[in-house]
Amino acid sequence: METKVMGVVGSGQMGSGIAQLAAVAGMDVWLVDTDSSALNRATKSISNSIQRFVSKAQLSHEASKNAMNRLRCTQDLEALRDADVIVEAIVESEDVKKKLFSELDRITKASAILASNTSSISITRLASATSRPHQVIGMHFFNPPPIMKLVEIVRGADTSNDTFTKVKALAERFGKSVVCSQDFPGFIVNRILMPMINEAFFALYTGVAAKEDIDTGMKLGLNQKMGPLELADFIGLDVCLSIMKVLHSGLGDPKCSPCPLLVQYVDAGRLGRKRGIGVYSYGKEPEPVKS
Ligand code: NAI
Repeated sequence: METKVMGVVGSGQMGSGIAQLAAVAGMDVWLVDTDSSALNRATKSISNSIQRFVSKAQLSHEASKNAMNRLRCTQDLEALRDADVIVEAIVESEDVKKKLFSELDRITKASAILASNTSSISITRLASATSRPHQVIGMHFFNPPPIMKLVEIVRGADTSNDTFTKVKALAERFGKSVVCSQDFPGFIVNRILMPMINEAFFALYTGVAAKEDIDTGMKLGLNQKMGPLELADFIGLDVCLSIMKVLHSGLGDPKCSPCPLLVQYVDAGRLGRKRGIGVYSYGKEPEPVKS
């Protein structure tokens, strides 16, 4: 059966983009966050992003209005009781995600699929917090979701073929290409990308080169759009650090030990573009770190 109602939990950079994709694809969307200011920021950023599609003639004015009308924001998780598919995009912490999956399992209808946008955490372990592990799957979008063409689908140990087929069809309805990964730390893309970003931090930490030279070297030397430090700021240094910790503990490889400079930046609240400062400064002072 086709997805009609979609729930997205977490309205940060990723959740807002995923909600936008679903609303533009014609679904009724509930976007849930515990933080009301995050929901306000998400509504503005979705509206601005949709307007950019209109100004490039990639979406009609009518379609943009309809998409915004299909989007509802709430702090109440219970709103997800009728959703067909829920995509979780909250903080990259296994404990916090497991608690949410257990609540979603209680609230949502028995047929609902529970997907996680996690960058690295085991889908099998998230599924173990529910009574429906065959309906739990990884649906890993890339940043920003409305633009990036890939969805990495991750099968947990018990994910059913039916769940996989439905989620693949959903990703294709969003116009995405799909790759399928088994449930190993970091899946495909972050397993390869994050150690590279971590190594770029080590290069900066040990004085191999200036940050601009590391980024320019990797951009022009490998024909990449962004250098690794620039990309880390774009992803969020907290997200990068969480993924490195999952790779380190899951693979047991000392090469995956997070660079002390990355740890220090996160401790200092230098989380990248979303905070106005990370490896680079984006014209804002960092907010004080909350303890
Ligand atoms: P973010 O920090 O921009 O947003 C997270 C949002 O989740 C915040 O608005 C926060 O208030 C909300 N939240 C936290 N706990 C919650 C809860 N229990 N219930 C409801 N809302 C809650 O984070 P971002 O970058 O959007 O990442 C979200 C997830 O997506 C993470 O698992 C991350 O690893 C993954 N991801 C991130 C990518 C990136 O480039 N930043 C790319 C692909 C995946």
